[in-house]
Amino acid sequence: MAEATYYIDEDVGQDISTQTGADDLPYKTLGFAVLTHGDSHKFLSRKSLTGDIPEGSDASARLEWKPVAKAAMKKAVNYAKTQKKKAEKEQELLVLRMKEEADRKKVLDEAKKIVLEEDTGLPQAVKIKLDVTDPAKVKLGNGSDVKGTRVRVFGRVHRERRQKEVMFITLRDGYGFMQVIFTGPLAKTYDALTLTRETSIEILGELREVPAGAHAPNNRELHADYYKIHAGWKAAGGDDAITNRVSKDTEHATLLDLRHLTLRGETASKVMIVRDAVEYAFNTVYKELRMRKVSPPALVQTQVEGGATLFKFQYYTEEAYLTQSSQLYLETCLPSMGDVYCIEKSFRAEKSLTRRHLAEYSHVEAELDFITFDDLLDHLEEVMCRVLEVTMSDPTVKQYILDLNPEFKTPERPFKRMKYTDAIAWLVEHEIPNEDGEPHKFGDDIAEAAERRMTDIINRPIFLTHFPAEIKAFYMQRDTEDPRTTESVDCLMPGVGEIVGGSMRIYNYDELMAAFAREGIDPADYYWYTDQRKYGSSPHGGYGLGLERFLAWLCKQHTVRDCCLYPRYFGRCKP
Ligand code: 4AD
Repeated sequence: MAEATYYIDEDVGQDISTQTGADDLPYKTLGFAVLTHGDSHKFLSRKSLTGDIPEGSDASARLEWKPVAKAAMKKAVNYAKTQKKKAEKEQELLVLRMKEEADRKKVLDEAKKIVLEEDTGLPQAVKIKLDVTDPAKVKLGNGSDVKGTRVRVFGRVHRERRQKEVMFITLRDGYGFMQVIFTGPLAKTYDALTLTRETSIEILGELREVPAGAHAPNNRELHADYYKIHAGWKAAGGDDAITNRVSKDTEHATLLDLRHLTLRGETASKVMIVRDAVEYAFNTVYKELRMRKVSPPALVQTQVEGGATLFKFQYYTEEAYLTQSSQLYLETCLPSMGDVYCIEKSFRAEKSLTRRHLAEYSHVEAELDFITFDDLLDHLEEVMCRVLEVTMSDPTVKQYILDLNPEFKTPERPFKRMKYTDAIAWLVEHEIPNEDGEPHKFGDDIAEAAERRMTDIINRPIFLTHFPAEIKAFYMQRDTEDPRTTESVDCLMPGVGEIVGGSMRIYNYDELMAAFAREGIDPADYYWYTDQRKYGSSPHGGYGLGLERFLAWLCKQHTVRDCCLYPRYFGRCKP
């Protein structure tokens, strides 16, 4: 090849294929010129035409084309060599990838030819959910002399793993998990080779014990003899695969945006299943205690827990609120129904973004008639402990709780009972300051952080009682021994803090009216509540337990947001 001359202008040259390297179309770097034309040419370069020209330097000299320095040439040759090697490697990889692609296509084309047929000679399959273990319904085979029950199961592919000619699938149906094994042609079909997580599938096969030393849910595995992925049952794969949308490393806000997918994960689904069991347990325990369930309204025109957290809305032509608590309505049921409870939604327009505040939460509330404050505390302790007992009596639920919270132990009875004044003294003694950074004093609201530190240090459930009237709701009965305080209780749990708030209620008409006046609330709207004090009043009391907070404690979740189906809080009302 004849020697040519190429020009490099470090200022206005360009390293693109439309440049020729001639003096009117120069390159920008020597490396690019050598890579494009080889090193056996003449290379001339110049520096800045447009940049700042240092004082005293000869501007015209900078316009002259000069031969490139030897060192620069060496560097450019090396650069060209590495670039060439890199390009060759990329080309090799591309060829390899194309070959793999072609091979895979061939395998898939072959796989498409495999059509599974159900063997009608096999015993009729019994349709079961994945958690059924009752030996009367399903027997486990051992792979040789003992035949297991042939079952038909439906579920979604939770995980899949391939080992040579065998495929292991973990199937999930919301009731449990099952290990499934595909062998022979079953592992070679087009569906098997392209199986994506979350695909819905119908599988038939024999249930067998897992071999010694191996592990699988319920110590069994399904040896499939037939399966079917019905039209439309396949889950998205590739970039859209569920594992690319939600994973352990995904940010919490994204997990909440994709809550519908997050719910399929093991942690979220276990929490939701425990939640179902806990709600069931509350219903069971309340029935044991002969309490009646009622369903108070959510749309109301009265406040219970202060105006600051009211969600207001236009109710036709009037102003109304979403209920903060069903307490006042429960109180009205006592004369006709006896002790009552409800599990309803409560709404709080909380502007704080804490890990234990929701805008919409499930509120377990109860109201008991003709009781003393001590009766109320005893009842509360009994309910909480019985609910735990009933919840833990389901072996699956118990296992889920222990998976989520391995150190969980049912709390010891009796719960620690501590008066507010003693808590203030305790906080002072332990140098835990109030919100102004000063030592706590009587009358201070014990803020979330201080409350949690105290609960975590004491590390057992606490009934914190006798709060000053000023920091509590208008309806609370005064303590006769210390009228500055009320017959009130917060139940505090390690890790979460307050999960229950309750009290005896003012049952004297005049005292209640005085409380309304003190709080500046117009009693007219509460005629239906104050009438209770006019028509056969009684010493009574009750409480509200935040279901999500109870679950956060039981399932050791960092935030109540992960303890409800689709959390609503300041800044989130979707999905
Ligand atoms: O202490 P609170 O505000 O008490 C009442 O509403 C009473 N009227 C209940 C009654 O006596 N029937 O709320 C009771 C419980 C709290 O202890 C807490 O567990 C929960 O409800 N709670 C919340 N949970 C989640 N997010 C919020 N914003 C909550 N506010 C209260």
